[in-house]
Amino acid sequence: SDSDPLQDFCVGDLKASPSINGFPCKSGVSASDFFFSGLGGPLNTSNSNGVTVAPANVLTFPGLNTLGIAMNNVEFAPGGVNPPHSHPRATEAGVVIEGSVYVGFLTTNNTLFSKVINAGEMFVVPRGLVHFQWNVGKVKARLITAFNSQLPGAAVLPITLFGSFPEIPNAVLTKAFRTDDATVDKLKFNFAV
Ligand code: GLV
Ligand code: MN
Repeated sequence: SDSDPLQDFCVGDLKASPSINGFPCKSGVSASDFFFSGLGGPLNTSNSNGVTVAPANVLTFPGLNTLGIAMNNVEFAPGGVNPPHSHPRATEAGVVIEGSVYVGFLTTNNTLFSKVINAGEMFVVPRGLVHFQWNVGKVKARLITAFNSQLPGAAVLPITLFGSFPEIPNAVLTKAFRTDDATVDKLKFNFAV
C-alpha cells in the first residue's frame, strides 16, 4: 500500500533524514544493494516469547526503498508465541516453511479467523488487523512473511500498552481493562523498559 515508484529504484540513503515517502536515493548503486542475506536463520529463540523475527525492511535492506515491499523470517521454539500485533501500513502474507503453526487474526468486529497450518501453507492478514501465531508443534517452526510496505511498522499490543515510555497512567489502564492497580502494575513490571 506504499505509493507507486516514479523511477526504477531509489536505494535508500539511511544516513539522510527520511522524507514523506521514505529515504532520499543514494548515489553509486551496485548489485549488492539489491540482495540481502538476512532471512536464512537459524535465529536464537531463547526468549520469553520463544519467537525471534529477522526483518528485511528498508532499514535493514535499503534497496527496498520506494519499492513497497518487505519480508520477515520468523522462527519459533516449541510453544513459542508471536504476540498479538498489527501492521499499520501493510497487509501481510505468510508461508509456513517448517513446523505446525496456529495462525489467527481478528476483525474490527472481534471475530477470530484462525487455523493450524503446516509447511507449504499460506495465510493472509488484512492490513492493520490484530494477529498472532503460536507454534503448536513439538519442534521448531518457521514462517516467511511478506508485506506491501517497505516499512510495515508493528504495534505489539502487550508492549504498546504495558511497556511504553513514558508509561500510560494506571487510571487509564485499570478502567480500560476493568481491573485494579495491582494487576496493571504486574503487567507493567513484566514489560518494564
Ligand atoms: C508475523 O506476523 C510477522 O509480522 O512477521
Ligand atoms: Mn505480523
